[in-house]
Amino acid sequence: MEVIILPDAERAARLAARLITDALGARPGLVLGLATGRTMERVYDELARQHREAGLDFARCRTFNLDEYIGVPPADPRSYRHYMNRHLFGRVNLPLTATHLPDGMAADIKAACREYEAQIRAAGGIDLQLLGLGADGHIGFNEPASSLMSRTRDKMLTPETLAQNAPLCGGMENMPRRALTMGVGTILEVRRCLLLATGATKAEILARAVEGPITSMVTASALQLHPCCQVITDEAAAATLQNRDYYRWVFANEPDWAPYRD
Ligand code: GLP
Repeated sequence: MEVIILPDAERAARLAARLITDALGARPGLVLGLATGRTMERVYDELARQHREAGLDFARCRTFNLDEYIGVPPADPRSYRHYMNRHLFGRVNLPLTATHLPDGMAADIKAACREYEAQIRAAGGIDLQLLGLGADGHIGFNEPASSLMSRTRDKMLTPETLAQNAPLCGGMENMPRRALTMGVGTILEVRRCLLLATGATKAEILARAVEGPITSMVTASALQLHPCCQVITDEAAAATLQNRDYYRWVFANEPDWAPYRD
């Protein structure tokens, strides 16, 4: 894992957006894995700005989101499809037919999960996967005790996740209880991962994910097994990382990072 600590959440999001922009520049047909949540809003704002002001071109890009709530229609503001249309898809030139989320409205959930895995395979696999970090250490909706070899499937959300996401759904009474999510095994197969976690509320769980033991109780810790995973964070979330001085030193001295140190 490479850990990059930036002074604040704004700069951390901008770096994540820039790494995506560069990947898209290098490979216009990029297969991009996307995430939702408040942390990602700044990343999508920046990608939309780059599209508007610098002509960042998504015409050949294809996207796959990590997860979607079960039983929430695409037009419902709680759905991740709605979130993605609002924060990214409706603001850039991504053909909607090239955007994919698991189908939380499917009559046959198991078939929909198999179909999602098949669509990812047919696209040639995911080149770059953006990831957020749940309060309980989840990536996607891989809640504690998820198999580290799991594939796309339905999961019951933990009380912690319900509390974390309820404000985005108009309160606990409107919060969906179940979701479809790529599995940890699905995520570990992507070519490159970018985990973005910012803010003091993520500090303790980020330290467990990055420096703790690999455990299904913190599914983000499985990213330690990934050969190409960059963790982008801010000072607030990095506060309890034991090796933070070393991470800062690497970012300041590693030639590959030179273009990104501004
Ligand atoms: C949801 C998503 C996760 C995401 C998390 C982070 O739970 N399923 O993929 O990592 O939100 O949320 P936030 O950025 O709001 O902290």
